[in-house]
Amino acid sequence: MGSRQEALATDMDRQIAIMQEMREASLSLAARPLGYVDTYGCQQNESDSEKLRGMLVEMGYGITKDENAADVAILNTCAVRKKAETRVLGNVGALIHTKTANPAQIIVFCGCLAAVPETVETIRESYKHVDLVFPPSQIWRFPEFLERTKNEKKRVFIDDDESGEIHEGLPLHRDNAVRAWLPIMYGCDNYCSYCIVPYVRGRERSRDASVILDEARALVASGCKDITLLGQNVNSYVRQGDGPLVSSDFPNLIRAINEIDGEFLIRFMTSHPKDASYELFQAMAECDKAARHIHLPFQAGSNRILKAMNRGYTKESYLEKIAMAKELMPDIVLTSDVIVGFPGESEADFYDTLDLIKKADFDAMFTFIFSKRPGTPAAEFPDNISREEKQTWFEQLVDLQNEISERKHESYIGKSVRILVDGEAPGEKYPLRARTNGGRLVHLLDAPELIGQFAEATITHCNNWSLFGEVNK
Ligand code: SAM
Ligand code: SF4
Ligand code: F3S
Repeated sequence: MGSRQEALATDMDRQIAIMQEMREASLSLAARPLGYVDTYGCQQNESDSEKLRGMLVEMGYGITKDENAADVAILNTCAVRKKAETRVLGNVGALIHTKTANPAQIIVFCGCLAAVPETVETIRESYKHVDLVFPPSQIWRFPEFLERTKNEKKRVFIDDDESGEIHEGLPLHRDNAVRAWLPIMYGCDNYCSYCIVPYVRGRERSRDASVILDEARALVASGCKDITLLGQNVNSYVRQGDGPLVSSDFPNLIRAINEIDGEFLIRFMTSHPKDASYELFQAMAECDKAARHIHLPFQAGSNRILKAMNRGYTKESYLEKIAMAKELMPDIVLTSDVIVGFPGESEADFYDTLDLIKKADFDAMFTFIFSKRPGTPAAEFPDNISREEKQTWFEQLVDLQNEISERKHESYIGKSVRILVDGEAPGEKYPLRARTNGGRLVHLLDAPELIGQFAEATITHCNNWSLFGEVNK
């Protein structure tokens, strides 16, 4: 082992030793201490919250969904839009009440907003009940930080670690045994001009293929049936280490995971259109476990705006790529993201976006109004579109997509589809949740014995967001 790797192993050993000590201390208490983790943002943050809960459990904590009962209350935050930030700051403000009721409570502010210097300053100055702040790059040192916060009895603020090291071996606490997130890479090097993610999540770095494959095998062995490979741009995955892959790319990672014995589905989020290749679609088409779904955010339909966004593709090349995917997989479910009201967007640009949506015929789409993010180039672009106009455009996009989604969903009615039953909605008329192979949400009539299993169901009706059905008898 090289000296850098030895040092990393030692650093992680230190965290493990601290977790053991904290566990002994927790077990000596009359009542088991409780940890609460509130997650905002994307799947990457959901996955990080599994690590935070895993470390808490390792330190002898129980997990609670009630912030009032928590000894440690963690907010794992998102910085992607101003709205997300406002919501987090509102909720962190409200924690003053839980802290007043229990002054020993430790309040932790982490996740992407904890890597934004302006927000950290706001927390330091105006949210004095927050005890510990650390950015995503430092998540693996949470045991050490928690111990310091407890022992030193003063507020702890941790800076970003720009070394880009990946620290393996953290315990995980997964809420759902049927579906799992599996990060394959961290960070982003794309610098889309509107996006804060590269600044808060750092440079792209890929996990060792053998670690990913071991984790996938362990998930399948534990009964997991749906694995989502995570990365801001999974197509940039670069094989690390001496794993069993013969080539160094994402399509081959899919192929290698597909070789694992067992009945399960492989999904991935997110694929950047500029790097989505014929080989990727080919790998999906040839792998029986690769779900027939691709989320391919297009962001805008105008080439002028795509250029200003620094996306690296055109409307035409985007449409060609999805045509290629549909040719190889006629049953593919296609979903996307779009931003309206980007600075300088004209009505003609907006019509290009409408046109792309009509041509692409997405099954579902997430629509966002442009939000100025500090430190990003687009935050400095002149923006002369009124909020009202952005809102009107937003509503037009949502209406158009709802119409398309509804039409697509109606085509499922009366059909029998293969589903994975993955969750419950207690008390609701349709108390079970399932997903089709293409990832569409299905509300199911009762068949609780099927949780965690694949089944065939007949779709009876739909709305523009989901399907409703019953299991075939
Ligand atoms: N890496 C993914 C990609 O490039 O497709 C996207 C990740 S981002 C967390 C999720 C979505 O948030 C983006 O696809 C984009 O539509 C939206 N988004 C990012 N920055 C935004 C901003 N400043 N304002 C509005 N929406 C934004
Ligand atoms: Fe943000 Fe672009 Fe990276 Fe996606 S690819 S995370 S939108 S910078
Ligand atoms: Fe938000 Fe960070 Fe994800 S900014 S969308 S939680 S990577």
